[in-house]
Amino acid sequence: MKHIAIVTVLVALLTIVTNYFLLSVGLLPVEASTQATIIDKLFNTHFFIISFLFSLISVFMIYSLIVFRNKKGQDEDGKFVTGSTKLEILWTIIPLATVISFSYLGAKSLAETRIINPQAMTINVTASQWAWSFEYPDFEITSNTLYLPVDNQVNLQMTSLDVIHSFWVPEFRVKQDVLPGENLVKELRFTPSIIGDYTLMCAELCGGAHAYMNSPVKVVSEADFQSWVDLESKADDLNPVQKGEKLVKNNGCIGCHTLDGSASVGPTWLGLSGSEKSLMDGEKIIVDDKYLMSSILNPNQDIVQNFSPNIMPSIYADLFSKEELEDIIAFINSLH
Ligand code: CUA
Repeated sequence: MKHIAIVTVLVALLTIVTNYFLLSVGLLPVEASTQATIIDKLFNTHFFIISFLFSLISVFMIYSLIVFRNKKGQDEDGKFVTGSTKLEILWTIIPLATVISFSYLGAKSLAETRIINPQAMTINVTASQWAWSFEYPDFEITSNTLYLPVDNQVNLQMTSLDVIHSFWVPEFRVKQDVLPGENLVKELRFTPSIIGDYTLMCAELCGGAHAYMNSPVKVVSEADFQSWVDLESKADDLNPVQKGEKLVKNNGCIGCHTLDGSASVGPTWLGLSGSEKSLMDGEKIIVDDKYLMSSILNPNQDIVQNFSPNIMPSIYADLFSKEELEDIIAFINSLH
């Protein structure tokens, strides 16, 4: 009885210490959405159970090793134990009850994170190798940065042009796979609660530049959101180079092509126009508008040495109009 009392006290102490440690090392980023608070409550309950189980096992083990070790001159066999029905029933029922109560808590929290606000702002999200694009149907704006007004629920309608991607902003906690296919639009709702800059990451291995498939997320005040909308809506009177710049930034081209001459997955665009390149078959070509156009439309043709095998997807013929492609080429030509 004395041993049980000591072990109980030690388990309680170690549980408190371990739990305090887990809560204070900063395992979770800031809670920047209403949903994050709900999910973190569940995380914290898990941390407590983890601390308790860790303490229960290690205290019993270490206490037994030290207190019940073979004393000097003690060389008879230990007591033969056949088992304990009482213990077996106990250690079946307790974990079962724990798991069932966690499934209840999990389902309840999931339902809470999915409460629908009918006033939510809809944003159409398109994922592709390797970029995110955000379309605001209410304002006829397309952006590569996800602008969100604080304390308003957003309703993301998400689809993919090629393979499976996954929408994940750690500070918002919620995560949703994005699937290809017209009828497979996935919905994700959350309410950002802290003004600040975050990063959207792709959380599903989706090919060569998966690790770079990030997009900035800006949670701003209602007034700042309105001025961003006003600014973006005035974008009609841009010249072709400016239009092209906007297109390549909104469609993720610069995820693979740098504008400053540094190396990346695809050729840099700085000084690309007019430069001489060697193709895979040894033929030398001068990069002109015609070559740029055919490389965007048929990326698998006429590949420049060092960029084989080609990983640029063949989706841009469908994605851009002829006029937009000309704007993009005008922008590439302007980079010297
Ligand atoms: Cu998209 Cu990983």
